[in-house]
Amino acid sequence: MSLHWEEIQTKLESIKEKQLFRETKTYQGIDFCSNDYLGLSSNPRMLEYYQTLQDEYPFGSTASRLVRGNFDSMDLFEKEFASFVEGEAALLVSTGFVANFGLIDSIAAPDCYVFTDRLNHASILDGIRISGAKKKYYNHLDLEHLKSLLQKTDLEDPSRKHKRIVVTESLFSMDGDSPNFKTLLQLKEEFGFVLVVDEAHAIGVYGKEGKGILFRDLPTESIKSIDYRVYTLGKSFGLEGGVIVTKKIGRDHLVNVMRSFIFSTAPLPIISKLAIFGLNLLRSMDEVRVNLHSLAYHLKQSLLDSGFVITNTESHIIPLLLNSEKEALFYGKRLQEIGLDVRAIRPPTVPTPRLRISLNAKLSHEDTNSLVSALVKIRKEWNDQLNNSTNHE
Ligand SMILES: Cc1ncc(COP(=O)(O)O)c(C=O)c1O
Repeated sequence: MSLHWEEIQTKLESIKEKQLFRETKTYQGIDFCSNDYLGLSSNPRMLEYYQTLQDEYPFGSTASRLVRGNFDSMDLFEKEFASFVEGEAALLVSTGFVANFGLIDSIAAPDCYVFTDRLNHASILDGIRISGAKKKYYNHLDLEHLKSLLQKTDLEDPSRKHKRIVVTESLFSMDGDSPNFKTLLQLKEEFGFVLVVDEAHAIGVYGKEGKGILFRDLPTESIKSIDYRVYTLGKSFGLEGGVIVTKKIGRDHLVNVMRSFIFSTAPLPIISKLAIFGLNLLRSMDEVRVNLHSLAYHLKQSLLDSGFVITNTESHIIPLLLNSEKEALFYGKRLQEIGLDVRAIRPPTVPTPRLRISLNAKLSHEDTNSLVSALVKIRKEWNDQLNNSTNHE
């Protein structure tokens, strides 16, 4: 074996030893783990509409959007989406990952400071890394800590010659919690930084008509002062794609410099048609959202009443904290065997092992009750196994 393959083998062995080995597996069982929060990926009206498009649209977009890959439906979707979230302009890209990664690489540079919540998504962290900017982590949701870092940077660079950018998710995908946006905007006012907010997990689920957490927490005028908002079509829309909402000149700038946009094939044409249709559907689903939040509330209560430890979640994402990678894998495997699709999430995705339970509109109280009963049963099995191994030592 060559040195390279020996190195890969050693790396994999070390991953396995730490119980962190991952495999791609086809799903089975009741969905408690996807991001298809409104069930749009298999919504009958979406499916019916999809059938009508098949003769009209080619499979691939055949080139990047700046060459031959741009379709009217992409322009129309951008217009409708920007108007939906009250932004000046929107840019559709192939995924949410590309949106964050490409955006941050385009607006940051080695002489910038980028302040990032410690738990921000990999696409944000990788964008900062590739831009070469100075990365400053602040503790999760800790805006006092962010303020102290901004003050320190002011001492280093009192004339604020070097750009400062702050990036946060609006709903943290692995913890289910959110920053205080009123305080964040006060800091923006005081320190004059560029603000990027990622609404990936909130669009479709929060705010009137599903406009997102910003619309739940802030008046529209304040939202307009946010420089960039990032959305994905891969979650509540049940599709695939990323959207950056910004000023018209912000969009022009990205179209001209964003490498992952310029040098990559455009999204499938049919996606923008489905996204326009899906947007109208999603807006009309306030009742579905109310039911989803009620389901989440009851599941949280039930988990707490049964003695489980969950994060400080305020949302439909309910992470159940466990003590070790091994324990998380045991729960995940047993839940799969019972027919409940909940996945163990381990480092480096998160700092500590957990089961990430995410709820969607297709679930019922009966489903969540079955989940809690299964978890209670599995906890007993795990404890019995632990006691047996201690007794045999
Ligand atoms: C907060 C956040 N932003 C962006 C992304 C990437 O979006 P996409 O899956 O569309 O690439 C994710 C994906 O999980 C995410 O959790």
